[in-house]
Amino acid sequence: MFYSQIFRSKQQSMFDKLRKLLVYQQIGKKNFAGSLFDRFVGLDFILDKCPGSTVLDIGSNEGLISYEFAKRGSKLIHGFEKEKDMVKFTKRLFRDIPIENKFVRADLAISGEEFERRYQDILLKEYDIVLFLGVYHHLKYQMPEKNLHDLVELLLAKSKKWFVVRTNMLPEFESIILDKNFQLVSSTPAKGGVGLLHIYEKKVDVDSGSPFFKGG
Ligand SMILES: C[S@@+](CC[C@H](N)C(=O)[O-])C[C@H]1O[C@@H](n2cnc3c(N)ncnc32)[C@H](O)[C@@H]1O
Repeated sequence: MFYSQIFRSKQQSMFDKLRKLLVYQQIGKKNFAGSLFDRFVGLDFILDKCPGSTVLDIGSNEGLISYEFAKRGSKLIHGFEKEKDMVKFTKRLFRDIPIENKFVRADLAISGEEFERRYQDILLKEYDIVLFLGVYHHLKYQMPEKNLHDLVELLLAKSKKWFVVRTNMLPEFESIILDKNFQLVSSTPAKGGVGLLHIYEKKVDVDSGSPFFKGG
């Protein structure tokens, strides 16, 4: 019984490795589902509001979503991404783009506190828009759930106005977002291999709240 369990788990891990290898070979190390166009589905709502904004892009991949925010008028973008080649590509893409930007190779399978500590020299206290697109379901399998929820809380604390999240696992942690005083303002169902997109806006304190950028 014991030996057969070990054998089965070895077989399973060999199968997983083989599957990963085949997937990478077939898609040329593409590390997202769906087409590039699918990855933009539902983002028009926030792109329309981005002129003058500061943006934090978590899991920025090759930077094309950040690029679109820059093109549509964001004034500063910071991106964090695990894959070295993707960060290299993004830096190249942004070489001649005349807005403040930093793209950092980083493994974000860490708690919010650790993220803040490691990148204190780069991170702003807050960003108008925080993008958390297609990353939650990756991090979920890389770190303890408590640390992941911690990280989500830190990202919410850094979202001055908008928190934009794409994952079919949203029901798992949406209560954290709503508890932090955000309200859902746009929802786009999963499509063509990319997940459910929700855009949340921070509720404004009527006494102190004021519009902070064009379209805000
Ligand atoms: C599905 S892609 C989404 C890319 C982009 N945000 C978008 O919506 O098109 C997930 C991204 O998260 C990155 N990622 C996965 N695990 C990560 C980690 N531990 N730290 C930083 N980035 C990670 C992947 O390399 C990949 O670029």
